[in-house]
Amino acid sequence: MVPDSRLIIALDVTDREEALQISRKIGGLVDAIKVNYPLILSCGLGIVPEIKKYANVIADFKVADIPNTNRLICEETFKAGADAIICQGFVGNDSVKACVDVAAQFGKEVYVVTEMSHPGAIDFIQKHAMDLVDVAIKNGASGIIAPATRPERLSEIKRRSKDLKILSPGVGAQGGDARTTLDAGADFIIVGRSIYNAKDPYQAAIDLIGQLRR
Ligand code: XMP
Repeated sequence: MVPDSRLIIALDVTDREEALQISRKIGGLVDAIKVNYPLILSCGLGIVPEIKKYANVIADFKVADIPNTNRLICEETFKAGADAIICQGFVGNDSVKACVDVAAQFGKEVYVVTEMSHPGAIDFIQKHAMDLVDVAIKNGASGIIAPATRPERLSEIKRRSKDLKILSPGVGAQGGDARTTLDAGADFIIVGRSIYNAKDPYQAAIDLIGQLRR
């Protein structure tokens, strides 16, 4: 994924028509549309190729299983047309490698979750964030997910992650700021509610891109 707008929308709506309408409107503005369980459980994986008509699709499935199951999940996801998948690193090197191996077969990308953006990330996962960055590097992932809600942690993670791409959720509804997140080291910001709940999602996306370009 090559940065342009540097904005990725998290399309966590559950209504098919709303999802496609938003994709149609803002697909040309954003670098990717991220889908997650709310949309896929409601509409099925078949919505991926429909959304792909408008933008690259990232499947945020936070894959976290044994290597064989990870492999099967990634195969189905890439067969459906997703351009990238997000997996958890805490399950270990072999499980992440299984995702990366499948992605390589399809010419697609894997992003590994490090420290998450929500307050509960401090309970367990934060202590291992740097180890998770190392897991991503060691297994040839394209990038990592790191929090916009803690810019100082994002900068530390950036220093550790060398040239891995960083996708950063937590801007807007979770309190993170778009420009600060890029300045802290993110390559892309991921924004959900602040766009899809806005009265005018197109304008909300334009406003965010304006902040990113300042
Ligand atoms: P909002 O509405 O908060 O949506 O802008 C954020 C989107 O990103 C997902 N999310 C994360 N995904 N690691 C991830 O892999 C994280 O730390 C993280 N934090 C939020 C969230 O599920 C939603 O789709």
